[in-house]
Amino acid sequence: MSIFNDVADRKRAEDALRESEEKLRNIVENSTNVFYSHTPDQRLVYLSPQFEKIFGYDPKDRMLLWTETLTDNPANQKGIHATEEAIRTGKPQPTYELELKAKDGRKIWVEVNESPVVRDGKTVMIVGALQDITQRKKAEKERMEMERRFQQSQKLESLGIMAGGIAHDFNNLLTAILGNLDLAILGGVQNPRSQSFLEQARKATLRASDLTSQMLAYSGKGKFHVKTFNLSGLVDEMAGLLKASISKTVSLSLNTDQSIPSIKADPAQIQQIIMNLIVNASEAIGGNPGIISIATGVQNCDERCLEQSRLREKPRPGLYVFLEVKDTGCGMDEKTMERLFDPFFTTKFTGRGLGMAAVLGIVEAHQGAIMLQSEPGRGTAIRVLFPALASEEAADAAGKGGMPSAGAFTPRPEYAADTVLVVDDEEMVLDLCTAMVEQLGFHVLRASDGREAVDVFRRHAAEITLVILDLTMPRMDGAQAFHELKRIRSDVKVIVSSGFSEQEVSHHFPEDEPAAFIEKPFEFKNLQKKIGMVMEKG
Ligand SMILES: Nc1ncnc2c1ncn2[C@@H]1O[C@H](COP(=O)(O)OP(=O)(O)OP(=O)(O)O)[C@@H](O)[C@H]1O
Ligand SMILES: [Mg+2]
Repeated sequence: MSIFNDVADRKRAEDALRESEEKLRNIVENSTNVFYSHTPDQRLVYLSPQFEKIFGYDPKDRMLLWTETLTDNPANQKGIHATEEAIRTGKPQPTYELELKAKDGRKIWVEVNESPVVRDGKTVMIVGALQDITQRKKAEKERMEMERRFQQSQKLESLGIMAGGIAHDFNNLLTAILGNLDLAILGGVQNPRSQSFLEQARKATLRASDLTSQMLAYSGKGKFHVKTFNLSGLVDEMAGLLKASISKTVSLSLNTDQSIPSIKADPAQIQQIIMNLIVNASEAIGGNPGIISIATGVQNCDERCLEQSRLREKPRPGLYVFLEVKDTGCGMDEKTMERLFDPFFTTKFTGRGLGMAAVLGIVEAHQGAIMLQSEPGRGTAIRVLFPALASEEAADAAGKGGMPSAGAFTPRPEYAADTVLVVDDEEMVLDLCTAMVEQLGFHVLRASDGREAVDVFRRHAAEITLVILDLTMPRMDGAQAFHELKRIRSDVKVIVSSGFSEQEVSHHFPEDEPAAFIEKPFEFKNLQKKIGMVMEKG
């Protein structure tokens, strides 16, 4: 009886084992996952049949070294490393992805989940499961491609908006310039009304140049004349101008700290920032009564404080000088704050959306920071920070001194005997510059590139007092022409004219500097001043 029972028990146990093995095999062999195990030296011990279905290998080469199915995709290194780590440490590693080759060469992405089997502290086996994720990867790639295309189209769209914005503004200004010039020509130069048309054309031109300077400031390629100065002094000097720029209903409160350290910056660009902020503040208040407060001060900023900056580049911790413009205007919601610095983003009917873009460009170029606080209906505070100069740096800079300031130039009759060589490849600019120099009483010789300039100079070297030389020209550029002229007559006086900033231009003349630089577009009085300065020097 007991023997019978024993046999029956064993049979039952065997049946149960077989049943559970079969269940397990059913799961393993019918799963869409591939199960495997391999030794630490990568020999396969088990590979479930699903592998053949996915990879198409014959059952006989099913036990091949699985590593041979790896493609040479560098992304696979991560997985190879994870397996090595699992073998070395005996600890399971995070899931990883591999790119494998099917028998017909198709690439198949799998996600691998594996763990080491450890005996006596040593890894004896790796067991794991692969899942075919090729479809998922494909969908992911498509989504990324879609996103990329979407971003591209957004970029194109904003480029379109930008080009449209610029074209629109310039068209209006050009219309004003052209129309007023036409009227002046029709009326005749002597006609007093023509004078006012000309004045209008001039105003429109200055506005066009203001537009380009805002755009150049945004791109960080604006004119840059770095000086050492006190921000509070600059704000105080501007007080009159600021009062004139805001609406009559708004009162301005100035609170400048006179004891702040100096900064090293371009004062013209800092003025541009102040103006842009003040005008925005005034426009935010609209025609209503309100207050704009301007304050300057000094602030010690650590990394955490500078994290708050709205600029992508966070400057280094240290001492900063700040300018804050606070208004009691309409304030901004989150959406507006996010787009505040986008070029051509505006919520105003006549806005160009360039003011804050220019502020961003200038502050970035000065390695500064911008803090922003605003709430709809409660007003806005914008604080721009510039790195403060250590006191000895400031003293050094003060010692050097700037350029001597030119006295007022009065046209002198003796210029009638002097000859100026004007060189420019742009005919319009050449004509204009010729006319300006003639207006001053000089005799003018002209050349339209460096080569021609050198030829003319060689023939007239004795009589030419001054050369006004464009920098970018075909055949021979200004820098090279300058050296040739110096070789002919070492004491020749040259004013270099260029659309680039003086700082940039000076790189072209590393050893021998020209007598002066003038930036295009230049106004008559500017050229007059430069010529006066150069003539007085020697
Ligand atoms: N102080 C402020 N208060 C409320 N909103 C502001 C303030 N400053 C800027 N904004 C918002 O940010 C937008 C962009 O300002 P930005 O100065 O760049 O352009 P704009 O003033 O519209 O035009 P532009 O300055 O070129 O004439 C504004 O249209 C406005 O919606
Ligand atoms: Mg503005």
